[in-house]
Amino acid sequence: MSIWYQWGVRPSLYALCGFDAERVHHFVMYWLRQKWVPCVVRRVVPGRGHDIRLHQDILGVEFPNPVGLAAGMDKNAIALSTLEQFGFGSLEFGGVTPQPQKGNPKPRLFNVWEKSALINRMGFNSDGVEQVVQNLMSLPRPSVPIGANLAVNKERAHDPEQVCADYVASMEALYYSVDYFVVNVSSLNTPGLRDQVAHLPGMLAYVHAQNVICADLWGVTPKPIFVKLSGDMQQCEFETAVNAISCYPNGGLVAINASSSRDGVRARHVPQGALSGPPIFKRMLHHVRIARACAPDMVIVASGGISNAQDAIEALHAGANVCQVYTSFVVQDPFVASHINAGVCRYMHHERMSNITDFQSYWT
Ligand SMILES: Cc1cc2nc3c(=O)[nH]c(=O)nc-3n(C[C@H](O)[C@H](O)[C@H](O)COP(=O)(O)O)c2cc1C
Repeated sequence: MSIWYQWGVRPSLYALCGFDAERVHHFVMYWLRQKWVPCVVRRVVPGRGHDIRLHQDILGVEFPNPVGLAAGMDKNAIALSTLEQFGFGSLEFGGVTPQPQKGNPKPRLFNVWEKSALINRMGFNSDGVEQVVQNLMSLPRPSVPIGANLAVNKERAHDPEQVCADYVASMEALYYSVDYFVVNVSSLNTPGLRDQVAHLPGMLAYVHAQNVICADLWGVTPKPIFVKLSGDMQQCEFETAVNAISCYPNGGLVAINASSSRDGVRARHVPQGALSGPPIFKRMLHHVRIARACAPDMVIVASGGISNAQDAIEALHAGANVCQVYTSFVVQDPFVASHINAGVCRYMHHERMSNITDFQSYWT
């Protein structure tokens, strides 16, 4: 935890932005997208996770370290060059919708201060895939893998065919620019979307078929397609979805999305929306364990409440191949990726592990 950030920088930013969490976000993103900022961040961040022991090949993509940035921070892929410099081993942008949309009415992002958590009901505010493609083209390509979180336009979220068409439209437009895709069927803030999990087998068949067609067109191998599931599902529903995902050799799981639960959060902090940060960590671990038991060989990305190296190590032990952070990056410690990477390296040294993949020996 960075005291200087929590007690100095962050309160100042909030004061400057009228104590409005979303305004703080836009203010920070404005600065992060400036061309000179990546150089500054590179100098300030303590080590950027380039230890060879942390490298792993995941579904044909080289991940230099196991700490990725989760979706939602950079919705429109405007600041990837700077975000890379914080030591992330991968960057997921989006959710991207085919058509631009404003998302839910404001206010829609809230702090739960004493839990270092957030509640959001953004509702896929997106500039639309065309603009996102332009943004990506105008940036140097990051040296770490980048993934596109595929979302849907609000009015189409109730119809499985339209949902599927939205995923594929964005996938086609972004195919050249990204290393992997994440199909988001788990956002709480778009009514109807979570119900589409019932149609997952059919959807995945279609999306994977389009993946092969796009790959042929571009003359490349098909890209990994992850599915991001909610941790609010019934266990049997979750297991059924995991089994559907694991049918595809280039498929994987992101577990979990921000949650409708209010685990450990006091009643007065209950604006509607999705909870993220430390209160959902145990829920995430539970779902990673279930998924690993169902699908021993599937790639699993752990997302939910990871704040430090100890959390990441627990997730890797539980069955995750890599992990992602969002809330801890913005609420607790902007250097969280670099701190986690250093902590994981220390742990591996202590346990005489030579590569991050050695965690897999704990999964049985
Ligand atoms: C403000 C905000 C916006 C988010 N937007 C998205 C999104 O567009 N797509 C998505 O799959 N997840 C989104 N998420 C969820 C995060 O990617 C992540 O899965 C979740 O917050 C749990 O991780 P964390 O506890 O490290 O934040 C969002 C989270 C927050 C806080």
